[in-house]
Amino acid sequence: MRSKKIASVVVALAFGLVTAVALAGSGPAEFVLKAKKGDVTFQHHKHQERTGCGECHHTKGPDGKQVIDEKGEHAAKCDTCHNKDFPNKKLNKPMKAFHKNCKGCHKEHKVSTKCNFCHKK
Ligand code: HEC
Ligand code: HEC
Ligand code: HEC
Ligand code: HEC
Repeated sequence: MRSKKIASVVVALAFGLVTAVALAGSGPAEFVLKAKKGDVTFQHHKHQERTGCGECHHTKGPDGKQVIDEKGEHAAKCDTCHNKDFPNKKLNKPMKAFHKNCKGCHKEHKVSTKCNFCHKK
């Protein structure tokens, strides 16, 4: 029983790794998120090597639909949901969703959360 469980965990981990490697390099390598505070140049592919897609793109949206397609070629933009119509007021602007996501992980990993680490004038 136990070894079966361990084996399936190993398989799941290996599969996860293969999926992550297969999907790394998806979408633009780098893009600029415009902000009055100073534009943010975001290294998408570098971040993909550091972490799984789900750290930023939810696996599933509120309607249960995939937010990111299986091939990793299309992902719903954050502001399709995180806009003024979003029910949770703490996440009803792209900025709020981005700050929570980006700064949250940076804080956890002791990466800078200073404004000008991201916003460059
Ligand atoms: C550290 C955060 C982060 C990680 C990790 C990440 N992404 Fe993204 N990705 C973004 C952001 C932010 C955008 C831009 C979304 C927007 O403009 O609203 C984006 C955009 C995309 C787009 C383009 C969407 C479009 O149509 O313009 C694709 C495709 C994509 N990501 C796929 C992936 C895949 C596949 C992975 C995992 C291998 C991944 N991303 C990992 C943050 C991330
Ligand atoms: C299909 C709709 C949809 C899209 C697209 C979407 N979100 Fe969300 N997001 C949600 C919902 C629903 C919640 C849960 C809200 C709550 O907890 O009140 C959420 C929660 C969050 C949270 C708080 C919970 C957590 O996981 O920390 C953050 C941060 C977040 N989203 C960031 C993003 C970012 C960044 C993007 C784009 C890369 C994105 N979201 C794209 C619907 C979406
Ligand atoms: C899941 C964790 C995680 C998330 C989410 C995340 N980052 Fe990062 N980020 C890191 C790590 C780790 C580094 C590496 C720092 C180093 O190498 O010293 C980094 C580095 C950076 C850098 C420096 C340039 C580079 O890529 O090496 C910038 C700018 C940055 N992140 C912006 C962002 C923005 C903007 C977002 C949200 C769209 C974001 N990050 C989301 C973990 C994350
Ligand atoms: C880890 C990266 C990161 C850090 C650190 C960060 N931001 Fe941001 N900020 C972003 C991203 C990404 C956006 C979203 C840009 C967009 O919506 O296109 C944003 C958006 C904003 C916006 C709204 C867009 C605009 O027009 O300016 C303001 C204001 C802002 N940030 C202020 C700050 C301030 C003040 C600090 C420091 C206390 C800070 N940010 C730190 C990544 C960061």
